[in-house]
Amino acid sequence: MDSVGPLGLQQGDGAPGCPQEALPCPSNSPELVQECLRQFKVTGAQLRQIQASLLGSMEQALSGQANPAPTVRMLPTYVGSVPHGTEQGDFVVLELGAIGASLRVLWVTLMGTKGHRMEPQSREFVIPQEVMVGPGQQLFDFAARCLSEFLDAFPVGNQGLQLGFSFSFPCHQTGLDKSTLISWTKGFRCSGVEGQDVVQLLRDAIQRQGAYSIDVVAVVNDAVGTMMGCEPGAGPCEVGLVVDTGTNACYMEEARHVAVLDEDRGRVCISVEWGSFSDDGALGPVLTTFDHALDHESLNPGAQRFEKMIGGLYLGELVRLVLAHLAQRGVLFGGCTSPALLSRGGILLEHVAEMEDPSAGAARVHTILQDLGLRPRASDTELVRHVCAAVCTRAAQLCAAALAAVLSRLQRSREQETLQIAVATGGRVFERHPRFLSILQETVMLLAPKCDVSFIPSVDGGGRGVAMVTAVAARLAAHRRLLEETLAPFRLTREQLAAVQAQMREAMARGLRGEASSLRMLPTYVRATPDGSERGDFLALDLGGTNFRVLLVRVATGGVQISSQIYSIPECVAQGSGQQLFDHIVDCIVDFQQKQGLSGQSLPLGFTFSFPCRQLGLDQGILLTWTKGFNASDCEGQDVVCLLREAIRRRQATELNVVAIVNDTVGTMMSCGYEDPRCEVGLIVGTGTNACYMEELRNVASVAGDSGHMCINMEWGAFGDDGSLGMLSTNFDASVDQASINPGKQRFEKMISGMYLGEIVRHVLLHLTSLGVLFRGQPTQRLQTRDIFKTKFLSEIESDSLALRQVRAILEALGLPLTSDDALMVLEVCQAVSQRAAQLCGAGVAAVVEKIRENRGLEELTVSVGVDGTLYKMHPHFSSLVAATVRELAPRCAVTFLQSEDGSGKGAALVTAVACRLAQMTHV
Ligand code: BG6
Ligand code: GLC
Ligand code: GLC
Repeated sequence: MDSVGPLGLQQGDGAPGCPQEALPCPSNSPELVQECLRQFKVTGAQLRQIQASLLGSMEQALSGQANPAPTVRMLPTYVGSVPHGTEQGDFVVLELGAIGASLRVLWVTLMGTKGHRMEPQSREFVIPQEVMVGPGQQLFDFAARCLSEFLDAFPVGNQGLQLGFSFSFPCHQTGLDKSTLISWTKGFRCSGVEGQDVVQLLRDAIQRQGAYSIDVVAVVNDAVGTMMGCEPGAGPCEVGLVVDTGTNACYMEEARHVAVLDEDRGRVCISVEWGSFSDDGALGPVLTTFDHALDHESLNPGAQRFEKMIGGLYLGELVRLVLAHLAQRGVLFGGCTSPALLSRGGILLEHVAEMEDPSAGAARVHTILQDLGLRPRASDTELVRHVCAAVCTRAAQLCAAALAAVLSRLQRSREQETLQIAVATGGRVFERHPRFLSILQETVMLLAPKCDVSFIPSVDGGGRGVAMVTAVAARLAAHRRLLEETLAPFRLTREQLAAVQAQMREAMARGLRGEASSLRMLPTYVRATPDGSERGDFLALDLGGTNFRVLLVRVATGGVQISSQIYSIPECVAQGSGQQLFDHIVDCIVDFQQKQGLSGQSLPLGFTFSFPCRQLGLDQGILLTWTKGFNASDCEGQDVVCLLREAIRRRQATELNVVAIVNDTVGTMMSCGYEDPRCEVGLIVGTGTNACYMEELRNVASVAGDSGHMCINMEWGAFGDDGSLGMLSTNFDASVDQASINPGKQRFEKMISGMYLGEIVRHVLLHLTSLGVLFRGQPTQRLQTRDIFKTKFLSEIESDSLALRQVRAILEALGLPLTSDDALMVLEVCQAVSQRAAQLCGAGVAAVVEKIRENRGLEELTVSVGVDGTLYKMHPHFSSLVAATVRELAPRCAVTFLQSEDGSGKGAALVTAVACRLAQMTHV
């Protein structure tokens, strides 16, 4: 059917031919030609405006600003790093959309760092026109058929083929193998595909076909394939530029600048999709009447306006429209036209490239025109060449302006004024049209003078790059599976946590009855929480946590005042002789007294001693066993208060009067209890972990009396030492336990507390390295060093405010060389280990508060828990995970967690104060 475009050209197959009489050139023909060619001229100022406007659009899209809608999409591609060069294996690549109406299948072998590059095998299949615009299923079935046909010619088995899908249309990617088509571009318009995941459509078609079992591992835009396939030169190639049927570019952007990703980590490759760029202000002045005509006739009028001035699908078309216009005005071919000249697609990119090529003589141009059914006169060939050159020069210049916008963006995002960068170029316009690249280069130099750009032609038409991404995707998927398998035992279900809670309840009850139990449930002789009437000055000692402290605590009407000093306990003292340890402690007290001007005063002293002690009174505590990093000889089985008094005697510091010995959990509960009378539980999650709570005296078999309460030091760190936690213990826990100074002991503590979490993580990292998942499988001496991975690193690494690059910096400072992928995995390991710790701790607290509720026969219990410990306080998520677990497992208890601000020393002083008051009362 005839139709008339905006130029008044006749379309379709209607009325090609000559006027009645061949026309002589009209007298105004030079002006007419000039007029046409002038339309294609773009000034430097216009190019700069396009560059600036495109940059604006790019940044608007990156920042997620929707109003007005940005005209480029800036689509994240999930390609996070340029290739290592270590990728290897055989891959099938299916290319759809890059090279017009053809589909290409390639067999690509990547050799890793060894061996030479192998040429891929490939085959091109022409896609019938009706398939390009028919139902989507037909297109994907066609693709699956081509794949089978290609593979039939290969001696490949049917198993484990990994396919990379090069799909060169704008897509929303949500993973390396998930990609929803936004809209068709170029010559495609299949129904039922827009809005669908094209990977799934291909998988379905391959399955329908049934011939091969192929895993579609990755989907890649051609610009990305071009960038990724680039042979790394001096530096990595971080921009990909395609001018084929259509045009597009991609580049590596800082992920933190990409609003939709909500990700602070590393870089991500962004497909600009600049083909859709259409800013009226910037593009309007350079659009010609021919551009409008071309757009009007296209499958997607109004869309992809920028692409329609640059892409190879359109260059032939623009030339055709100009030549037809000039022929119809009698300026060319004696006024004659031909069917090819008048029908869409009549002149192809190949024709234009060849006719413009200065090395192809006039005779060649003549032949091409004749093949197009035209009768060129001698003067026509030169004119036609000018037209081709004008159209192509403009395309290359516009492309340069767009590339310059990308380079400016890179300068900004990297905060570098000068930029040295390699751009991978791909597509048939570069291959067939050498002048295109030289104009592009020249123009880029003018528009981005501070960028030192080297252009590197893509290898194997981008197929190699797609294989690279596929290799990376396959490796990442395999690594992820291994990571998940490794971390699975750390992920506890609600049922498992409820079982821990139930076992804890059982063990508590047995321990209280004096039966065999891993929970000792030690009476503390603390019978009441503070009532606020306590007064006086006290000395306190605080031994067993991160710091050893001596304190002066003044309890007065206006509140509590504390002065304290930290003293170190060298490891050789903590693990030397008991006498040495206690002498050291007394030395520190005497030093403190001197500094505080307390020498000669006899102040009552409360001793926070954070180890399991069997108490027979407030001032008697027999050390049952050392825990954490302590192992001083001749102390276990001894009364610690006596050991301290003996050391006082040895030092002749007779004025020291030890009144009470207190576990740190008890000190913490008392300290918080001074502020909140509902505080009836003490919890420590620091170097070690433990809890205490107020139990009904009638339930405590080892203490006489049936009424009132007593605080019980559970020593829950030892929970599971009878093997009852076996099901939850991983190989990593076993390794940490075996390497500790007390194997088989404190099994619950070793899964929870700060002294051990870093070690668990280190063992997991060693395992993942041995599987090749981390650090490229290279074991390092550093990682094999015990205690190198401190628990404070977990707290730092898991902090939400840290970008992955900072995580990487922490690990690099540890001497662990890693990539962004590694850093992400280390973060996930830390999360799994600390989450389990917090949940187990929560299950313990749930057991305790439920016990209190049931003891009191209450439907609902409101209770506070005083908490201390570096891990609990410093870790960004630990406390909220504990609270969430308690809510889940003890729904009838309203639990408030109070962080102790003053350490357990204050609590020890308060216990001492109560003891003094009671002692005075008995004196009276
Ligand atoms: C402190 C106590 O507040 O918390 C110590 O005063 C206790 O006695 C400590 O051991 C627990 O935390 P960490 O992290 O120092 O072991
Ligand atoms: C079109 C597509 C884009 C592709 C480009 C080059 O612009 O929308 O995805 O990269 O053509 O093939
Ligand atoms: C260890 C000790 C315990 C202490 C806890 C917290 O588990 O055995 O007494 O309360 O660490 O410091």
